[in-house]
Amino acid sequence: MIKMTDVQKFFDDFQALKDINLEVPKGQVVVVLGPSGSGKSTLCRTINRLETIEQGTIEIDGVLLPEEGKGLAKIRADVGMVFQSFNLFPHLTIKDNVSLAPIKVRKLKKSEAHDLAMKLLDRVGIANQADKYPAQLSGGQQQRVAIARALAMNPKIMLFDEPTSALDPEMVNEVLDVMSSLAKEGMTMVCVTHEMGFARKAADRVLFMADGAIVEDTEPDSFFTNPQSARAKDFLGKILAH
Ligand SMILES: Nc1ncnc2c1ncn2[C@@H]1O[C@H](COP(=O)(O)OP(=O)(O)O)[C@@H](O)[C@H]1O
Ligand SMILES: [Mg+2]
Repeated sequence: MIKMTDVQKFFDDFQALKDINLEVPKGQVVVVLGPSGSGKSTLCRTINRLETIEQGTIEIDGVLLPEEGKGLAKIRADVGMVFQSFNLFPHLTIKDNVSLAPIKVRKLKKSEAHDLAMKLLDRVGIANQADKYPAQLSGGQQQRVAIARALAMNPKIMLFDEPTSALDPEMVNEVLDVMSSLAKEGMTMVCVTHEMGFARKAADRVLFMADGAIVEDTEPDSFFTNPQSARAKDFLGKILAH
């Protein structure tokens, strides 16, 4: 579903991604771990071309990512992304936030898009909030709206970049539960997260990044019980110390 070959990404002289070779089959759930600044967000952003790459190729479901234009818009619509900050439109109701892209991009009729939005809001457990505005919802609820909004485009892949990092602790699980059920339903997912419980339970695979490179690529159990690199051992020592 995702194939990255010899990808190099630079910000001026600084190399943010180094020799990324990654194949993610359909339905796989990949958790990306690594210290701050290791390139996790940049990796996600290159997958749906929010960032360009200087060298290498990225294929989504067998289609080479073009530089720009119509083809790119179409492929980008196949890749849903959820960020740390929920980025909902404050002046639109929850239902309208979810139905906007299906109307504008997928050309659904308003009534069809609203039906779809209600179905998805039900799936993430907040159909009863549909007519409220984002500011009237808790952070956990807003993030679930953001997931419903991404799902409304019927994506082939979902990218999550620290989706629970801005949430109060008691709201983390309601978002992780939605992600876990998506994973069980067979969605192809790349998740940057510091939630080690989620990584252990939901992931098929862990990527550990350091200095822009994928340093370890393994099953969750072996990563947590038997990390190979000094960087990964150091990272795990720090996060598991408390
Ligand atoms: N737009 C940008 N311009 C310049 N440098 C950037 C930009 N975005 C990210 N970087 C740098 O690239 C590196 C990786 O960043 P990022 O992918 O955000 O790391 P992570 O998500 O793992 O914390 C960092 O050193 C960061 O400062
Ligand atoms: Mg980041």
